[in-house]
Amino acid sequence: MEQTARPWWTGAVGYEVYPRSFADSNGDGVGDLEGIRQRLDHLTWLGVDALWITPFYPSPGFDHGYDVADYTDVAPQHGTLDDFDRLVADAHQRGLRVVVDIVPNHTSSHHAWFRSALGDRDSEFRDHYLWRDPAPDGGPPNNWVSHFGGPAWTLDEATGQYWCHLFLPEQPDLNWDNPAVADAFDDILRFWCDRGVDGFRIDVAHGLKKHPSFADNPQPREPEDPAHPGQIFGSFDHLYDLDQDDNVEIYRRWNAVVRPYGAMLIGEVGTDEPTRLARYSEPGILHTGFALKPAWKEWDPEWLLDYVQAVHEASPNGISWVTDNHDTSRSVSRYGGGPRGIDRSIAVTTLLFALGGVPFLWEGQELGLDDGIIAATDLEDPVSTRNDGVKGRDGTRTVMPWDDGHANGFTTAARPWLDAHDRPAHQTVAAQVADPTSPIHRYRDLLRIRSAQPAFWESDLEWLDVDSPTARAVHRGDVVVVANLGPAPCTATLPPGRWTVVFASRTGITLDHAEGTIVVPEEAALVLEF
Ligand code: NOJ
Repeated sequence: MEQTARPWWTGAVGYEVYPRSFADSNGDGVGDLEGIRQRLDHLTWLGVDALWITPFYPSPGFDHGYDVADYTDVAPQHGTLDDFDRLVADAHQRGLRVVVDIVPNHTSSHHAWFRSALGDRDSEFRDHYLWRDPAPDGGPPNNWVSHFGGPAWTLDEATGQYWCHLFLPEQPDLNWDNPAVADAFDDILRFWCDRGVDGFRIDVAHGLKKHPSFADNPQPREPEDPAHPGQIFGSFDHLYDLDQDDNVEIYRRWNAVVRPYGAMLIGEVGTDEPTRLARYSEPGILHTGFALKPAWKEWDPEWLLDYVQAVHEASPNGISWVTDNHDTSRSVSRYGGGPRGIDRSIAVTTLLFALGGVPFLWEGQELGLDDGIIAATDLEDPVSTRNDGVKGRDGTRTVMPWDDGHANGFTTAARPWLDAHDRPAHQTVAAQVADPTSPIHRYRDLLRIRSAQPAFWESDLEWLDVDSPTARAVHRGDVVVVANLGPAPCTATLPPGRWTVVFASRTGITLDHAEGTIVVPEEAALVLEF
C-alpha cells in the first residue's frame, strides 16, 4: 500500500482474527484465509484499520498454529499463498492493513530444522535449538517450567541431552545466540513484507534470549492451585528464562529489516513491570507492545486503573491495549457476564482507546460475546487436554457467530472444529447490525468518533482530577475521556471551555457543564470541546 509521511499505524485500531474460528469458506469445519477475505466488509463496516491474523502456517497443530513447521507457506486447511495474496490485495483495496503473526521463540517439532537436530549432535541445525546435558541426577538441567505444564525440558534419548521448551515439548525453543537463526528470521520477515504485509505481531517477544548461565529461577511463592500450569509458572521469578536485557537487540535488528517496507512491529511482551515493558517500544526497537495483564484479570477497577496509569506513564505512546485476545477468558465473562459484563467491557475499552499505541479488538468482542460453552469431551486446547480439569483457552476461541443459521453461519460442515453450543440470535452479527441498540453499534460509534479526533494520538495526555479511586479522566487536546468503573457516580473536573458528551458507553448523556462531567457508575464518557 502507498506510504504516507506518517507511519500507517498512527491513530489506527486493530482487530485480531483467529483464522480457525473466523469463517470457513470450504465447509471443512476449519476457518480459512478465503473465509476472512469474504468477511472483510464486516471489518470495514465496523471501522477498524488493520487486521492481525494469528498463525496460518503449516503446523501439526499441537498449539493450534503457534507450533510452526514452515514459516513461509500456508497450511492446506487455511488455504494457499494465492489465497493469502488475494486477501492482502482485497484488504488493501478497502484501506485495511494486514498484520501477520511471527513465532520466533520456538518452532514446531515438525519443522525441518528440529527434525534434523533431534537425535543428531552433528546436525547442521543442532545449534538452532537449546540443548543441555542432564543434571547430575539425570533429570532436567534446571528448574525451569513450561507454561503448559511440567518441566521446560524433554530428553532427546538418542543424544542424552535435553531440549528446552517454554511451551509444549512439541514447541522447541530456538537458540537466539546462533547467528544463523537471526539470519533465517530476517529472511522470513522479508518474505512476508515482499508479499505486502503491513506488520508483524511477535509471539512471546520477551522470551527469545535466555540467560547464558541457565541458572535455576527462584520460586518465592507457592502456586495457589498446584495442578494449574499457569499458577506454577507464575510462582517463579523468571530471572533467567524471560525478558533478558539483550532481547531488545533482536528487535533493533528487525526494525532495520522492516523499515524500508514501512511495516509495523508489535510485540507480545509478557512482562508486567511498567519500565521493563517500556523498554521494548523505545525508538528504533518495536513500534508498540501489548500490555497483557488487564486481559487476564477479573473485574477489579482500582487495580486496573492504577496499572493502566502506571504503564502509560512509563510508556506514553508505546503500548497497545487490549481487554481480550485468543488466550484469555472474554472480558464480558471476567467482568460479571451478561449486559453488566458488556457495559463494563465497553467502558474499559473506551478508556484504553484514549491511551495511544494501537489498541486491538478481538473477534467477537464487538458483539459483546461471553465465553462459549464447550463439553469437556470437546476441548481442544492443550492447556486443558494435557492438564486434567484445568480451564484452558477454548472458551474464547469458539467460532464467530455470523447469523442464527446452521453453526451460526460459520461453516456448512456438520460441526465446527471446536464444537460449542451455538450462540443465540441476539449474539450474532446479523441480528446486531440490524439493532441500533446492540453492542456492535456502540463499538462502531466509538471507532468512528475516535478516528475523527486526531487529538487521541497527537495531543499530550494529562490525567485530570476525579473524585474517586475507581475513576480516571484523561485530557488530550480537545478530547476528554472519563471512565467511572466504580459503584457510585463520579465527577471529573474538566479544563475551562465548552464540552459536550459525544459518546457514553452505556446510558447516553450525563453532562454537567458548570462543574465538570458527572459520570454514572460503570460507564465511560467521551467528551469533546466545541
Ligand atoms: C502466545 C500465544 O498468544 C499463545 O496462543 C501461544 O500458545 C503461546 N504464545 C506459545 O506460542
